Amino acid sequence: MKFFLDSANINEIEEIASLGLLDGVTTNPSLVAKENGQKDFNKIIKKICKIVKGPVSAEVISTKYENMIKEAEILSKIDKNVVIKLPMTKDGIKATSYLSKKKIPVNVTLIFSASQALLAAKAGAAYVSPFVGRLDDISSNGINLISDLSEIFLNYGFHTEILVASIRNPIHIIESAKLGADVATLPYSVLIQLFNHPLTDIGIEKFLKDWSNK
Ligand code: E4P
Repeated sequence: MKFFLDSANINEIEEIASLGLLDGVTTNPSLVAKENGQKDFNKIIKKICKIVKGPVSAEVISTKYENMIKEAEILSKIDKNVVIKLPMTKDGIKATSYLSKKKIPVNVTLIFSASQALLAAKAGAAYVSPFVGRLDDISSNGINLISDLSEIFLNYGFHTEILVASIRNPIHIIESAKLGADVATLPYSVLIQLFNHPLTDIGIEKFLKDWSNK
């Protein structure tokens, strides 16, 4: 399973990259805005691409096809690893078909149903981003969607990767991994949670205590 960091925070990205755990990064307008980066969006993406030698998703702001293409062409020139993130709309899917034919990788975001993911895969998306946490938030089981997508993509041999998004806790990651999801994009706080187990802390404490009493 590939680990992407769901962040536009340079310190977080550098820290996780230094652990040797980082396969890529996803950003969205909310994450970039949080870093006060609206004005410097392209610069932030460039900086992230310097740190991580893997796919970096940059989302367009436009909602109309022609403008999406214009934005995508500028973003894709920033670095060879830039993946264009497009919303799951008719215009987004039209732009996905166009860009995918031009070999520009697309991540279709805001996927909440298997039918939406099927459309994105047929349009040639490199990634689909099903939002498990936001589904859970409305009492709809997000992980069930990952199970449906794994089955459907396998049935037809789609090359589109399942990029599990809107992850809220380690259980989302483990359940997605059991279903064979290709990628998990993790907020920094959830990635750090993966390290923790109270028995590890107790074990270290005991080893050190025994060692100092030898
Ligand atoms: C990633 O690509 C998504 O934009 C992100 O995971 C959304 O997460 P949220 O539902 O916590 O905002």
